[in-house]
Amino acid sequence: MTDEATDTKIIDGKAFATGLRAKVAAQVDVLKSRHDMEPGLAVVLVGENPASEVYVRNKARQTRAAGMRSFEHRLPATTSQEDLLALVGRLNDDPLVSGILVQLPLPPQISADAVIATIDPEKDVDGFHTTNVGLLAVGGDGMVPCTPLGCLMLLKNRLGDLAGARALVLGRSNIVGKPMAHLLIRESCTVTVAHSRTRELAEECRRADILVAAVGRPRMVPGDWIRPGSVVVDVGINRVDAGNGKTRLVGDVDFESALEVVSAITPVPGGVGPMTIACLLHNTVLAACRRHGIAVPDV
Ligand code: GUN
Repeated sequence: MTDEATDTKIIDGKAFATGLRAKVAAQVDVLKSRHDMEPGLAVVLVGENPASEVYVRNKARQTRAAGMRSFEHRLPATTSQEDLLALVGRLNDDPLVSGILVQLPLPPQISADAVIATIDPEKDVDGFHTTNVGLLAVGGDGMVPCTPLGCLMLLKNRLGDLAGARALVLGRSNIVGKPMAHLLIRESCTVTVAHSRTRELAEECRRADILVAAVGRPRMVPGDWIRPGSVVVDVGINRVDAGNGKTRLVGDVDFESALEVVSAITPVPGGVGPMTIACLLHNTVLAACRRHGIAVPDV
């Protein structure tokens, strides 16, 4: 394959996310100048998980870069569930806060379900509250989880109309697999959800025109499981030994062998990853507009 043929197959999530963040920033400008409102995102981090620290720092930086208010709440790992729920309650009541995100995972003494259930569904920019899960399932207008929303945007940007496509979602998590399946059903795809107990997984994968891999197993899907000409979205972010005493990030799909057969594929890094925070900012603007009863600015 020539370099040019390879380049056109690779879906540049980083560039798409940069464009989406610029669009969000332009919408925020309009909200400030015409409606005198400034969306705000509150991010809560409990404990000192190093990966979570990086995510939270990036979320705050990109929120400010889009012109929005950022509120960071860092609590010790020993925080009680009662204290965290009280903070969420205050954020629910705070008119400056349009969106609330409590970074997962949480320490063992705190139930993530209890925390998510306490967030005002209209401020639930993660789309994890059962009200939003239910709205997605019945085709309603709730908050959609950021990572699957980013995957869908990349797919529609590449393929246009997805109606009738056979889609396989590999993974059944509440954060990615299940909402992704609902989003693809909404696009009139024929959707299969596969997971660790699926029989004849390779065969299931080979039937798919669209394959979304979200299992968290490094390079689990080889090129010969992939239908020629299909589009692959790789949600996996797995750190592996690079051999030279260093580590590197790989997806759930074996990128090199997949590239030989696909019509398009998202790389890791630089594919789905950058879309997640861009979609979080998009959801924050949406939440702010809904709260104020105004349309999202057309920019
Ligand atoms: N931890 C890893 N991914 C996510 C996410 O999308 N939202 C939250 N709240 N925590 C996470």
